[in-house]
Amino acid sequence: MAIPIDVVIMAAGKGTRMKSALPKVLHRLGGRALLAHVIDCAARLSARQAVVITGHGATEVEAACAGMTGAAAGFSLKFARQEPQLGTGHAVQQALPLLQDDGVTLVLSGDVPLTQAGTLMALLAQSGGQRLALLTLSMADPTGYGRIVRAGPQASSQVRAIVEHKDASDAQRDIHEIYSGIMAVPTRLLRRWLARLDNQNAQNEYYLTDIVKFAVEDGVAVVAHQILDAPQVAGVNSPVQLAELERVFQLRQATALMEQGVRLADPARFDVRGTLTCGQDVEIDVNCLFEGHVSLGDGVRVGANCVIANCVIAAGAVIHPFTHIDGEKLGVQVGEGALVGPFARLRPGAVLGAEVHIGNFVEVKNSTLARGAKANHLAYLGDATVGERVNYGAGSITANYDGANKHRTVIEADVHIGSNCVLVAPVTIGAGGTVGGGSTITKDVPAGSLSVARGKQVNISNWSRPVKPPKG
Ligand code: UD1
Ligand code: CA
Repeated sequence: MAIPIDVVIMAAGKGTRMKSALPKVLHRLGGRALLAHVIDCAARLSARQAVVITGHGATEVEAACAGMTGAAAGFSLKFARQEPQLGTGHAVQQALPLLQDDGVTLVLSGDVPLTQAGTLMALLAQSGGQRLALLTLSMADPTGYGRIVRAGPQASSQVRAIVEHKDASDAQRDIHEIYSGIMAVPTRLLRRWLARLDNQNAQNEYYLTDIVKFAVEDGVAVVAHQILDAPQVAGVNSPVQLAELERVFQLRQATALMEQGVRLADPARFDVRGTLTCGQDVEIDVNCLFEGHVSLGDGVRVGANCVIANCVIAAGAVIHPFTHIDGEKLGVQVGEGALVGPFARLRPGAVLGAEVHIGNFVEVKNSTLARGAKANHLAYLGDATVGERVNYGAGSITANYDGANKHRTVIEADVHIGSNCVLVAPVTIGAGGTVGGGSTITKDVPAGSLSVARGKQVNISNWSRPVKPPKG
């Protein structure tokens, strides 16, 4: 029988150095709140519950968490307020009423987003529900961190205490092994030790780290699980650190995709804020950003500087540079072998069939284009149903909005719409119809006919243009 895991996530601190009105743990990494990354990690451990300790911005943090639990069924997310904030030990004390003694408590911080579940599993295994397990790291510059003080000089010597930087002697400050801020501790022991904390130290805080010396006093084994990968335990205290961890996070995602065969022109100029699923032989040029849920089929190529959100792109489609796609809630679909861009904009509900071409400065919203339809230049298609092989001329638009309601435009198969036409919806252009350039179409066009709706051309012969009066 595995020991139940209860996660405590400390998130009450102010985050002064962010210099932001937003609570620190709600700042985004990879498009999601820092705290959401930590909660996700807890869910991946099959924890029984997570208790978030809130303080600064508590209502905002708690409200933001409402949307964070969906991923994990059978996982309960609770909150405990810590007001005022008297230290990390005091923070964990606030969670005690919600913790059960049969479990092991895993202490995490809401501002440490990149810890991997595997690392925490290893730490929990070290605790085994019996021992106090500390996640530690050796740092070239350990300034500011709690030092792991051992009984002897060997790396394997018994851990005696964690001494905070501000309380450390010069000799202790020479220790490079630091406490990461993450520990796993049998809950029944945690409860006993937290009751013994005091704030007789340099910061007059209740230090969670003082429980190490109580464990030693009580003869409970303390194990240090040392890792080498510093970003896994790195916290976010400033915009600079947030940006550093963002790059680490993005590089991880880029590497995972490249390992699946995706060809990225430059993994350092590639961002995913959400999920990106790729088929075989996908190529992505520099400076592309993917948001929400995006899926790219086999052989899809994405040119430089594209922003693509909430979109499904079928096999063989090519997205040329500087294209912006955002399906938002309705989604966008791009069919097999379609060509989009450069400088195209696909908005919610754009559904492009196979071999559709959408060229530069063309905007498509809530419109379906059947196989082989083309709108190659400077056009708008909104609330339209476009048939197969339609050719939609440069500068043409659907006037879909009368100021109060949106109306549909239906363009049946094989229609040619000339350049610079206005199709005033609701209107239907029958199959095979042709609309002359410059027409404003307000009535249905019967199948097979030519419609021209524009002022007649007048030619005045021997026209003399006005001349400027002579100077002086
Ligand atoms: C703590 C550890 C230190 C360790 C370091 C790693 C203690 C006493 N020290 O340092 O050994 O090397 O983390 O980063 O634990 N928080 C609360 N309530 C409080 C105080 C803090 O919720 O009253 C939260 C903060 O928001 C943060 C986390 O706890 O998420 C850690 O607090 P922080 O002040 O960064 O830790 P340190 O005391 O610097
Ligand atoms: Ca800190």
